[in-house]
This record gives sequence, C-alpha cells and structure tokens, in this order.
Amino acid sequence: MRVLLTGGAGYIGSHTALVLTERGHEVLVVDNFSNSSPESVRRVEQLTNASIELIEADLADPEQAKRALEPLEFDAVVHFAGLKAVGESTEQPARYYRTNIDSTLNLLDIMRAKGVTKLVFSSSATVYGDPQYLPQDELHQTGVGVTNPYGWTKAMIEQIIRDVQVAWPELNAVILRYFNPVGAHPSGRIGEDPAGIPNNLMPFIAQVAVGKREKLMVFGDAYETSDGTGVRDYIHVMDLAEGHVAALEQAPSGVSTYNLGSGKGSSVLEVLRAFEKAVGRELPYEITAARAGDVAEMVADPAKANRELGWAVKRTLDEACADAWAWQSANPDGYGA
Ligand code: NAD
Ligand code: WQD
Repeated sequence: MRVLLTGGAGYIGSHTALVLTERGHEVLVVDNFSNSSPESVRRVEQLTNASIELIEADLADPEQAKRALEPLEFDAVVHFAGLKAVGESTEQPARYYRTNIDSTLNLLDIMRAKGVTKLVFSSSATVYGDPQYLPQDELHQTGVGVTNPYGWTKAMIEQIIRDVQVAWPELNAVILRYFNPVGAHPSGRIGEDPAGIPNNLMPFIAQVAVGKREKLMVFGDAYETSDGTGVRDYIHVMDLAEGHVAALEQAPSGVSTYNLGSGKGSSVLEVLRAFEKAVGRELPYEITAARAGDVAEMVADPAKANRELGWAVKRTLDEACADAWAWQSANPDGYGA
C-alpha cells in the first residue's frame, strides 16, 4: 500500500513510518513540523534505506491541505496530526479544537473527493474519562468525565468519523485508542523529542537521567494503588507502531475501534525503578501534590485487538526504558542538536 501519514514526523508517526516501510509499504508524510522536525523522517530513511516523500503543510488550513494532498496518490491514511499537550489544551482550548477537528474534517473531505476509503485514527484512552471499571475494554463509556479539551477533541473526532461513515458507507475507519506510548526504536536514532518541559512521565525521567532536570516530581502517592502512585498501561512505541500495520492490514470494513495497550499496569515508582535499571544508577525524585485531572489507574483490555487484528505487545517496560535511554543519551537535545 501507499500510506499517507499525517503528522508522520512526530513521535509515534516516525516509528510507524519505519515499521510500515520495513513491512514493504510505501510511506508519504505530511506535517507542519509544529511539534517535530524533518530530521526524524531523514533518520527513518537512513534506518530503512528507503525514501519517504515529505510534504510540509498545515492540515487545519483547508487550502493548504487541499494543495498538499490533492496531487498525491495514496491508498490509505494514518492520521496522527494534531496537538496533544493536555495542560496546554486547557489554556488554549480554541486552538486545540480548531487544529485537531479542522484537520480531521479537511482530511475526510479530501479523502472522499479522491476516493481514498481507508483511515486509521490516533485516538486515546483519555476518551474513557474516569474509569468505571478496569481493565477498560472498548465498550467502556466514552466522552463522560473527560477532564480537558485535548481529550474532548479525541472523543468528538471519534464521533465525527462514525457520522461521516454513515453518510459515506465506503469509508473503512479504524479508531485506535492508545494507552501510554513510551520507549524508542532500539537503534536510539529516533525517539520522543518533547519541546520544553516534558509533560509525560518517561521523557521527564529520561531528562533527569541525562542531567537536564534536577529530579522527578511524583504527582501524588495517596492513590488507591499498590504503592499509592498513579498506575498506567505503558506500551512500547514499536509495539504501538506494529498495531497500526495490523490495523491497516487486518481490520474489518466499516468503523472499528481498538485499544492498543499491554493489559498490564505499572505505577510511577515502578517506571522510575525500571528506568534506573536501564541507566544503572538511582535517580532523584520527590513526592509532590497530585496533578489536577489525573486518575488513579488506567489499564487497557487489549483482547479485541489481540483477537481481531492478530496483534499483541511483544516488548516489556524494561525494554522500553532501555530503548528510551539509548535515544536520550545519544540525543540529549533530541533532533535539535
Ligand atoms: P507528536 O506531536 O510527536 O506528533 C504529532 C505530529 O503532528 C507532529 O509532527 C506535529 O508537527 C504534527 N501536526 C500538528 N498539527 C498539525 C497540523 N495542523 N498539520 C500538520 N501536521 C500537524 O505526537 P505523538 O505523540 O506522535 O502523537 C501522535 C498522535 O497520537 C496524536 O494525534 C496524539 O494526540 C495521539 N496520541 C498520543 C499519545 C501520546 O501519549 N503520545 C497518546 C494517545 C494518543
Ligand atoms: C503518567 C503517570 C502522572 C509526569 C497523558 C494524557 C493521555 C495520553 C498519554 C495523549 C501519571 C505521573 C507524570 C511527572 C508524574 N496522551 N507523572 N510526574 O497522564 O497517563 O496520560 O499522556 O493522548 O491523554 O493524559 O501520562 O505520562 O503524563 O503520566 O508523577 O512528571 O505519571 O501523575 O500517574 P497520562 P503521563
């Protein structure tokens, strides 16, 4: 297949570009580099010995989107492009709604006009809001108790995709709800390159390990979990990337929805210990107040993806930490150096 990756220069997109290319698919990337650099795609080309067409455009702008995508030929789209910082979305809600929703609407219009009927969308476990039960399967309620505009954009886009498919039944869309993506390609050549202070746990720990941050702030230790710190389902980004290949190759027609997670929860302190193992020394941390909007525990039930996509995680949290450390230590300033 010729697969267009929107936001393909980003963290998950670049790893998916690599896995798709290794699998023999042809990859095209469109990105506005608002949170990434073309260097990631150049490195994927080096790692795979393949060439990837890279187009710069803002997909939220209908004219730019049309100009960029209309001349291209592709059979399927994986739609990663969007803004993803939870805290920032609370400060800039209109920008988040506009970017994430407009880019999806523009993309769907262009796909329909071109007769491209295959779409994979990057959704998030955040659509489940406050967990009613664990592990969370795809039947868990969504769009209830979502605590930030970013999460709402995902819940709304899921609904938009379902509505568009009713009006355009040829559309085959796979909604993937990612749990917590972590790690990097084992080469250490591509990885997560957050701008500014990392919002997420593993990139923050990685920056403590490399000496860019003084210590990890552990957000709360009074949750009802094994050690009182928050529990999440961390998924190696290479496993996540392979989930997209499975979605493109195996998903049924119509709209289908899958959790991509490991099914196993890890606490903040367990992640810290695993990272320390990868680095080979203890890392400083301090327990601080819980972060607003955080829940105690999120864990995926990945049985549906296991069964219907023939996909399951293969890598452990220890491997994710080792790979994240290989990336961070070799690229202390990310792609910016
Ligand atoms: P990322 O920021 O690294 O990648 C997103 C890419 O989209 C970036 O390269 C960015 O420059 C590009 N982009 C943003 N706005 C654009 C626009 N208007 N036009 C064109 N390109 C644009 O983020 P990521 O972690 O790789 O996430 C990829 C997708 O997965 C996002 O939709 C995100 O919401 C979703 N997701 C991420 C996580 C996570 O924790 N990383 C979890 C669940 C879901
Ligand atoms: C993990 C755990 C924190 C940072 C977010 C989004 C979600 C999805 C993935 C996109 C929590 C604790 C964190 C730190 C800490 N993204 N923590 N100190 O909040 O589960 O999910 O990213 O869709 O939508 O909400 O991930 O990595 O921020 O936090 O103690 O400096 O680590 O409290 O328990 P989260 P995270």
